[in-house]
Amino acid sequence: MSKRILVDCHTHIYTKRLVSLLRSRTVNPRIHTNSPDGSEKLAILPQEVSGGRTVGPQYWDVRNKVSFMNRHSIDVSIVSLANPWLDFLDAPQAVTSAHECNADLEQYCSEASQLFASAQESGAVEAGRRMKAFGIMPLAEGVDPEHVVESLGTIAKSPSLCGAILGSRGLGKGLDDPALEPVWAKAAELGLVLFLHPHYGVGADASQPSGLWGSQDNGHVLPLALGFPFETAAATTRLILAGVFDRHPTLRLLVAHSGGALPILSSRLASCVAHDPHVCNRLQHDPRYYLGKIYYDAVAYGPEELEAVAKIIGRAERYKSGNKGQVEDVVERGTGRMMFGTDHPFFPPTKEDGTVITDDQTETWRSVTENLEAIDEVPSWTKEAKSGVFGLNAVKLFGL
Ligand code: URA
Ligand code: ZN
Repeated sequence: MSKRILVDCHTHIYTKRLVSLLRSRTVNPRIHTNSPDGSEKLAILPQEVSGGRTVGPQYWDVRNKVSFMNRHSIDVSIVSLANPWLDFLDAPQAVTSAHECNADLEQYCSEASQLFASAQESGAVEAGRRMKAFGIMPLAEGVDPEHVVESLGTIAKSPSLCGAILGSRGLGKGLDDPALEPVWAKAAELGLVLFLHPHYGVGADASQPSGLWGSQDNGHVLPLALGFPFETAAATTRLILAGVFDRHPTLRLLVAHSGGALPILSSRLASCVAHDPHVCNRLQHDPRYYLGKIYYDAVAYGPEELEAVAKIIGRAERYKSGNKGQVEDVVERGTGRMMFGTDHPFFPPTKEDGTVITDDQTETWRSVTENLEAIDEVPSWTKEAKSGVFGLNAVKLFGL
């Protein structure tokens, strides 16, 4: 029997240059050592009060990523810069830093290839093809969209880069900003996958005192478990409502955390659109149709959630204008758009006392096994559907 191919499409790093930059800052986002134990903390989330999370080499050292991949039988990783990317830089710094990061990401992949090659393991995928990366666009306030378009050209020419990470802020006005139109056009023309990922959360505004964090110390649970998925849902919806998929039907968008809250809210969204005179005649199709044009990671941690997402995507054709009720739902249309991810190095294993293991070279990560088991245990998915989600869908989408 042939071995299953496992591709991790959601796994992060900070480049060493970005780590130095974060260490030099005195306001968030930053890496500091002000905590009582003097350990390095990464404080990146808006309104972060706990001082941040403990960080170590797993956030930047390629040897940790390679060890993590080997330990979890991951054949290929497509790394992306972790949040908040370059959002916090001024325009000229963002443009320069995007160039540097894309070169550094290429170098990171090449160092990984050397490590894989020197280990001389004969896996399913050859050493030189096991580490790929999403590039970075200079998306920050005040950047000329032409610079963003240019960065996509650079990414398309870089051998190890196969798409670009995308936050929800765009150039400061969100993803429905008309200034981003040439960016969608270029990404569609080049066939680059844009990976939409949250950072800010939703619910952090002043109208909800400590709404995203809670009035007790809940660590990062509320912003990560709830704020992130709502932000992702809102950002994707803004793209849909701005008609981006009508104008760029070939745009390839991969959405983090299985689409966040959007799949489960998509019929409510459709109903709200249908009842709103400002929007009801704007789109070519029912909003639910566009969910079938998007790709989703399988970072949902539970089989029932994965099954629901695939079913919702699998019914999207029903909502193409003119098709209503006449098209059969096909779950494989849904599973064919989903792909495994880990979110490494976030969600590391903890010791018995709750402290985080920061330079881990030996542990099996629960955040990985949970997502693997979730895929394996979806009751209604065929073996082929599962192989697709484990890796073959990513092989096809990214041409790995
Ligand atoms: N926390 C983050 O800040 N980013 C992630 O990608 C996951 C968890
Ligand atoms: Zn992530």
